[in-house]
Amino acid sequence: MEQLSGKVGVVTGAASGIGRAVATRFAAEGMQVVLADIEPDRLEEVVDEITATGARAIGVVTDVRHEEQIEALAAATVDAFGTVHVVHNNAGVVTSGPLEDLTTADWEWVLGVDLWSVIFGVKTFLPLIKQAGEGHIVNTASTAGLQANAGIGPYNVAKFGVVALTETLALELRGIDNINASVLCPGAINTRIVDSDRNRPAELAEHVETAIEERFKQGSGAILAKGKDPAEVADLVVDGIRSNRFWLLTHEAWNDVVLERARALAADGHLHNGFGG
Ligand code: NAI
Repeated sequence: MEQLSGKVGVVTGAASGIGRAVATRFAAEGMQVVLADIEPDRLEEVVDEITATGARAIGVVTDVRHEEQIEALAAATVDAFGTVHVVHNNAGVVTSGPLEDLTTADWEWVLGVDLWSVIFGVKTFLPLIKQAGEGHIVNTASTAGLQANAGIGPYNVAKFGVVALTETLALELRGIDNINASVLCPGAINTRIVDSDRNRPAELAEHVETAIEERFKQGSGAILAKGKDPAEVADLVVDGIRSNRFWLLTHEAWNDVVLERARALAADGHLHNGFGG
């Protein structure tokens, strides 16, 4: 979809990090933007920042784990702007711990925010995009959707799921003119994802603190603090929509990881384990 100006875009997880940067960039491209997030105050701040530039934007407080809230988000979008063209299913959280210590609540929370939300987003918005006759769906996975990491099982499972879902979507869209899909697989980006617990719902609080978790938070915190600026991811997303590219990888180094994984899979059957593993 080359022409973004005048189109309507929806971004989830838009109050922070990648979502905020993408929503801001959509607005700068002349789009009307609907920002969805579970954090009302930060959402309002970001909407205010965007509308202060003269762009048209609204915020809709949404817990993306719930289908009826995604449906309400779609209804609010159509109410405000009449239609929808671009949807970026982006909200995400992470929790960590070895598989034997993870609680059912850990799995439910991460799969709810990171995978079910994308399933609901596609199911709810695709018919509306088809009505609009032109559009694009971007789903945020991760490099963890291309290769699993120890200690974040639910995140890996969710992100592999998002990759599979988006591949399915892109295949099903073949033959339909002007509607396409991309999967975003970021490497390290400087955001607040390591502080995901801030949005963990009380009913899914059951969690076992482990040494792995401490190491994960410190290690990832340090890596992400040196990660790319979310604005660079927004550039990639806009470029991916314009040029209709399916795979959106933010870090070139991951091309080699993916190739090595495929080589190991086809050649020697050994599990390839991340960078240099
Ligand atoms: P972030 O924490 O800065 O932003 C995530 C946003 O999602 C926050 O505004 C948060 O309030 C919102 N959110 C959390 N739970 C929600 C819920 N139930 N309903 C609605 N909104 C909710 O983190 P970041 O990094 O910007 O995350 C965006 C996406 O990028 C996620 O899907 C994440 O998994 C993915 N990602 C991030 C990477 C990184 O290095 N930062 C790397 C790979 C993927």
